[in-house]
Amino acid sequence: MLNVIYNEDCLIGIKKIPDKTVDLVITDPPYKINNHCAGGKTILSDNLNKYNNELYKNKLTQGYNYKILDELLRVMKKINIYIFCNGEQIPFYIDYFVLQRNCKMDIIIWNKTNALPLFNNKYLTDKEYCLYFRKGGYCCPQNYDDAKTVFYYPINIKDKRKWRHPTIKPELLIRKLIRNSSKENDTILDCFMGSGTTAICCLKENRNYIGFEINKNFYETCLRRIKEYKEE
Ligand SMILES: C[S@@+](CC[C@H](N)C(=O)[O-])C[C@H]1O[C@@H](n2cnc3c(N)ncnc32)[C@H](O)[C@@H]1O
Repeated sequence: MLNVIYNEDCLIGIKKIPDKTVDLVITDPPYKINNHCAGGKTILSDNLNKYNNELYKNKLTQGYNYKILDELLRVMKKINIYIFCNGEQIPFYIDYFVLQRNCKMDIIIWNKTNALPLFNNKYLTDKEYCLYFRKGGYCCPQNYDDAKTVFYYPINIKDKRKWRHPTIKPELLIRKLIRNSSKENDTILDCFMGSGTTAICCLKENRNYIGFEINKNFYETCLRRIKEYKEE
């Protein structure tokens, strides 16, 4: 079942994966967003509201079933996992991985250098957190840049438009995580594939992938993206 993405709920699909067969998990589950209204009435806040409505429409604001974490622990050889999340979810993950399971932790930040300039009564929405937890997991950056924990990079509007996924992550960031925490031919699991970024990055870094994506349109995007890459 290597180098396959399944169009199904990851909680069901992951049962197919045997115990202790995955070297690294990189995953970007739907965030839990309570308030998706920017407030005010300007062109900028309209843009943000449009984006948030797109997330809502695609069921990307309702969080996910945390039971998948127990399954991820089952399939990983050693705990070695990157999870994207928002600030409100950080305490939960610290409790689950650090307090209950004694993992080491790092926070990787994607600083979006072209975030909308909306700072009326609040800080910019200019970063995403990617938490890294490991217990025996491999972390070996090979150069100074790969070892940095803040990644400065714009929201890639071109990829977003091309692959029509509102929360597409930058390939350069995902490739760096893959290089730092896995070796060639290792197996990397992403339960929430979205537009297939993790799969493409695995192909580019000579790793194997396994993925799940519940949304049929996004699943088809993954297939198109992989096909296009292989034909290049
Ligand atoms: C935040 S997006 C991932 C974006 C991805 N990192 C990218 O670069 O394109 C999360 C994805 O998980 C999918 N998803 C949500 N619940 C799921 C589930 N139970 N099983 C599999 N996929 C799910 C959503 O349809 C969405 O595309």
